[in-house]
Amino acid sequence: MDYKKYVATKLVLDGVSAQEIEELLVVPPEKEMGDLALPCFKFAKVLRKSPVMIAEDFKQKFTSDEYISSVENVNGYLNFKFNKTQFVKELLGELQSQGDDYGKSDLGNGKTICIDYSSINIAKPFHIGHLSTTVIGGSLYKIYKFLGYNVVGINHLGDYGTQFGKLIYAFKAWGNRQDVEKYGVKELMRLYVKYHQEAKEHPEMDDVARGYFKDIENGDKEANELFVFFKELTLKEVSKTYEKLNITFDSYNGESFYNDKMDIVVKELQEKGLLVESDGAQVVMLDEYNMPPCIILRSDGASLYATRDLAAAYYRKNTYDFDKCLYVVAYQQNLHFKQIFKVLELLGKPWAKDMEHVAFGMVSLEDGAMSTREGKVVFLDEVLDKACEKCLGVINEKNPDLENKEQIAQTVGVGAVIFGALYGGRIKDITFNYDKVLNFDGETGPYVQYACTRCKGVMRRAGNGGEFTIGEISQDEYALAQELAKFPEIVKSAGEKREPSIITRYSVDLAQAYNKFYFNCRILGEEDNVKNYRLALTKSALTVLTSCLGLLGINVPEKM
Ligand code: ARG
Repeated sequence: MDYKKYVATKLVLDGVSAQEIEELLVVPPEKEMGDLALPCFKFAKVLRKSPVMIAEDFKQKFTSDEYISSVENVNGYLNFKFNKTQFVKELLGELQSQGDDYGKSDLGNGKTICIDYSSINIAKPFHIGHLSTTVIGGSLYKIYKFLGYNVVGINHLGDYGTQFGKLIYAFKAWGNRQDVEKYGVKELMRLYVKYHQEAKEHPEMDDVARGYFKDIENGDKEANELFVFFKELTLKEVSKTYEKLNITFDSYNGESFYNDKMDIVVKELQEKGLLVESDGAQVVMLDEYNMPPCIILRSDGASLYATRDLAAAYYRKNTYDFDKCLYVVAYQQNLHFKQIFKVLELLGKPWAKDMEHVAFGMVSLEDGAMSTREGKVVFLDEVLDKACEKCLGVINEKNPDLENKEQIAQTVGVGAVIFGALYGGRIKDITFNYDKVLNFDGETGPYVQYACTRCKGVMRRAGNGGEFTIGEISQDEYALAQELAKFPEIVKSAGEKREPSIITRYSVDLAQAYNKFYFNCRILGEEDNVKNYRLALTKSALTVLTSCLGLLGINVPEKM
């Protein structure tokens, strides 16, 4: 039942369309005001009347019915109250029949969204700085699927650049396969750091390294074997972290994939007269748009990050024919994406307008002990492990006899980190604090997971329930139902604004509403009708809470 639509079609006034009304209807800030409100200010100009009078006209013509029990005119707002019994009945009916599909939509049918996220660098650590792009992108991926879009998740690997020549140099000089296989990316980092130390004294090393890099590009067998070895090793290592975070990709086409796909871009730029020479380099001038030039080819003819992104954009349009192409990348790259999008526009690509940079703020650790240790980077995996360890500590203290506590600590610890990273608006910088994200009583992942296990516990003890008729509805029951009813709109809005935090915050509101209901409304021990009705509310809460967490990439334990 779409109440907005229903109210909008019931309201009649010359000069105002049902669609206009539907768009203006909002959920009032205070529950006592009612279930829906229509601000009448917007119509004042067209109808040449005061909002209060307009609201009165609407009200006069409105008759209450089985769905809407009353309408009030308060200072130019029309406040509608639903017939509670009918509302709860419809909602529970919908939830019962749709189950896990509740909130899904066909909004995205026939439309494709590409999402570029995580996009890690080969042979470099997967560190705390990648947390946001990974979990925001991963969540958007799930949200758009839920909304019916065809979604393509792309890990645009940083697997190109002279650093790979340096790494080959270092590997040959001081490395061996066994150690790299044993210690993974950490060993590659050690070699890389050693290279830089040595190269300070012996700058001629750089020429050799550049040679190795050219070898990779020219298809030299040995150089490519090493490159592939480093790449696969890195991917194997990160895949464990991706698994923990419930992150998947449809494509791992990174920068090197575009080695042979840039010519067409360069050619088109030339043909359109967009390329000019500047200090030997080929650039697109963007001063007219208040941006520095976008460098396409260096003076030695080498391509750049931007060139590869242009080629990738062409490739994605040709391959996936996207309706939207999103880049979940830190705001430090704002300029880069503005340049890329502008160059595509200058190239006359009508789809340039469908490209969007989904920027986010920085993550830093409050727990300085780990972040600053000899300037060491903080591996994302270490953060996850530490969160799980701390979580196990909490369980050992509060519920030491819990079965499978290691596994539960894993689910809750990882969930806490994801939830923490997705709680604030995406553009805000975050200071990450373990105790804060793990606080079972805070606005956290564990808090929402706990509400889920509470629902599961109720259902374990009371069974699945059965038929019921809805009698009197208490305030807490109704408040819970109102929260549940918001879910479909919440997912849509999170998708529209590219903001998983909308779901995160909502899940806390819903968990709070459930907890309030749970404490004030007895379930076990009530007569069957009441018990079944409250069980249906419990089951619905569990369904929606689980969907919310699922959309964030968080699992739900059985008990905790
Ligand atoms: N690898 C890059 C980095 O770590 C991010 C790549 C983002 N995606 C892109 N298509 N440019 O900064």
